[in-house]
Amino acid sequence: MKITIVFDRIRGEEKWLIQEAKKSGCTTELVDGRMLSFELTDREAKNRFGDIVLQRCISYYRSSFLTRIMENFGAHVINTSKVSDVCGNKLITSMVLAKAGIPTPKTFVALSSESVDQTAEQMGYPVVMKPFVGSWGRMVSIARDAQTLDTIVELRESIPNPIEHMYYLQEFVERPPRDIRAIVAGEEIIATVYRNAPPNEWRTNVARGATTTSFKADKDLSEIVHRAAHAVGGGILGVDVMESKEGYVVHEVNNTVEFKGAQAASKTKIAKKMIEFVVRSAKR
Ligand SMILES: Nc1ncnc2c1ncn2[C@@H]1O[C@H](COP(=O)(O)OP(=O)(O)O)[C@@H](O)[C@H]1O
Ligand SMILES: [Mg+2]
Repeated sequence: MKITIVFDRIRGEEKWLIQEAKKSGCTTELVDGRMLSFELTDREAKNRFGDIVLQRCISYYRSSFLTRIMENFGAHVINTSKVSDVCGNKLITSMVLAKAGIPTPKTFVALSSESVDQTAEQMGYPVVMKPFVGSWGRMVSIARDAQTLDTIVELRESIPNPIEHMYYLQEFVERPPRDIRAIVAGEEIIATVYRNAPPNEWRTNVARGATTTSFKADKDLSEIVHRAAHAVGGGILGVDVMESKEGYVVHEVNNTVEFKGAQAASKTKIAKKMIEFVVRSAKR
């Protein structure tokens, strides 16, 4: 069996995945997604990708285009382009979660700067504003009053990109200074960790310095994680959950999941479990 791993930067995670793919006895090919180009009618292209492709590009657009192109040639890619479409855009993720009846923070979308103020008034402050596409907590902001919100809106209006001129707003969830990252491969929850907010930071991304602690998921958490993973289309995912006063809420599902932080706290070899899932999927 041949596994192709597509990347655009080799992080620790990719190193572990490559090691485990090699250990699994599969032929492993590493492909730098930045160096690829295609002739779209090429009938032989499918043969370039082996039995299964593990998509690990960090760039959302590159990853999403590449997955779509490879699937169009007939390749089996983990995760699928459907999952990438849903998870890559927070608007679509929130809609899919809500439609599936999965508890998720109350989320509003304002389709121009004209309607932001009124939307936030209706929600009540503080409000959380997020870019539609993004990760590592970048540009995820909290506005505690109308003045702060107006300043963020002003900044975004000055960016000449239409996606910045629409607004994703979310209720601020009262929670402990941590959230939960659950790593899922198919039907299995491989690891669950708390991500503890670093000093002077409300966001709990490991990329912002959060530390991790492993814990065992209870029944409610396992259930919500499985439901969220199913709702977005399944595969290898990072489901992010907050502990609200009313119980667990899923705020994000990550498509190309980073697990450096989770691995630091877990005994389970996360990359090994992921590769086992890839091999199982290829055999199906
Ligand atoms: N509605 C919210 N209420 C409270 N904290 C939030 C909320 N949304 C996000 N956060 C915090 O901000 C972090 C980043 O938000 P997230 O939606 O996961 O974006 P990203 O894709 O950049 O990780 C979360 O891990 C969490 O700590
Ligand atoms: Mg996140």
